[in-house]
Amino acid sequence: MEEYEVYQAIGEEGFERLVAAFYRQVPQDDLLGPMYPAHDLAGSEQRLRDFLIYRFGGPQRYIEQRGHPRLRMRHAPFPIGVDARDRWVQLMTRALEEATLPCDAAECLKSFFDAMATFLMNRQPS
Ligand code: HEM
Repeated sequence: MEEYEVYQAIGEEGFERLVAAFYRQVPQDDLLGPMYPAHDLAGSEQRLRDFLIYRFGGPQRYIEQRGHPRLRMRHAPFPIGVDARDRWVQLMTRALEEATLPCDAAECLKSFFDAMATFLMNRQPS
């Protein structure tokens, strides 16, 4: 499946379930929990959801509200070494399992998450 076809396959609803399953794990995560704004996790959830919807062929709400993603720049304040990268991917992999999306869409998303999480690393080695 091509990236632009994922939105058609899983819709708003699929992205909502995926991102909700991810953020449900964040507050109790010892490594990632403290990085996210405890008072605005719903806002964080919405930003990631809208970004993914835009990135995978859906409406452009993220761009309208946040402008160019500049994800490396926006992640610069957070120390992302190999441990944080692996943990993020681990939580998202669990979320993908929980959301039970069609296999081809889930595989496409998984490759993107792996690559993007590595791209966002900004610390060595942790
Ligand atoms: C590798 C480990 C990662 C860590 C530790 C991390 C951490 C964070 C944190 C703490 C925020 C701020 C929360 C907020 O929006 O209020 C954030 C924002 C965001 N992250 Fe990540 N992130 C990681 C990987 C990723 C990946 C792989 C993606 C994309 C698939 C992603 C997409 C986003 C987006 C779209 C935002 C909101 C940007 C904005 O508009 O302000 N992040 N991330």
